[in-house]
Amino acid sequence: MPKATKFIIVIQAKGGVGKTTVTHALASAISDNRSTVAVVDQDTQESSLQWAGAAEHHGRPLPYPVYRPEEFIKLKERPAYVIIDAPGNNLGALKALVPQADVILMPTLPGPLEADSLARTIAVMQGDDVAFKDGAEVGVICVKWRRAGTGNDTAVCLDTQARIEEMGLPILAKLYDKSDYQKRFGRVMPFHLYHPLKDVLDTLGVRA
Ligand SMILES: Nc1ncnc2c1ncn2[C@@H]1O[C@H](COP(=O)(O)OP(=O)(O)OP(=O)(O)O)[C@@H](O)[C@H]1O
Ligand SMILES: [Mg+2]
Repeated sequence: MPKATKFIIVIQAKGGVGKTTVTHALASAISDNRSTVAVVDQDTQESSLQWAGAAEHHGRPLPYPVYRPEEFIKLKERPAYVIIDAPGNNLGALKALVPQADVILMPTLPGPLEADSLARTIAVMQGDDVAFKDGAEVGVICVKWRRAGTGNDTAVCLDTQARIEEMGLPILAKLYDKSDYQKRFGRVMPFHLYHPLKDVLDTLGVRA
């Protein structure tokens, strides 16, 4: 029997924290490992759909499809992995999407307010009106992380990391601050931008 599709949700209470970037980095990493993957764009801004449209326009389509939710529902054959690019600033969507998730990834930027926004996301998810799927895994992806001259993460990043650990959340990967991520919008993501997510692949059980 084919294995059930794994649903990965990239979500945060706050907007602009790197959900779409993490979605496409992870989709690139999974497809590089020859597993089937699709992105479902749940955000009305349609950034993921625009990313795919622009890549096609440039003559180098993304190596995975991006669907609207209503298109995805109609699929006869589902891929092994589905990544949902969730909207920011939408607690209703967060409550509706979390119960469907096998894996919940929360991108988080460095800074005390960013840690507060992660804590708010967790508080909403732990509300009585939200039920997790059995065995669901939850983790943080650090986004726009920075290193100091010493080569260690900056003090702000270390403080944010301590807050994340106090919340009992595992950090599954770090995407360091690189302007390359911004330049890649609408284009295929290269290996050096998505390879930091390889530990997430282990968590997902994607074969190497
Ligand atoms: N590691 C990184 N280094 C530098 N820039 C980054 C990195 N990750 C994301 N960005 C940039 O940060 C901005 C916000 O990222 P993104 O669009 O992925 O966030 P989002 O959470 O999906 O936003 P929205 O809530 O608007 O959907 C984008 O310009 C993106 O290119
Ligand atoms: Mg987005």
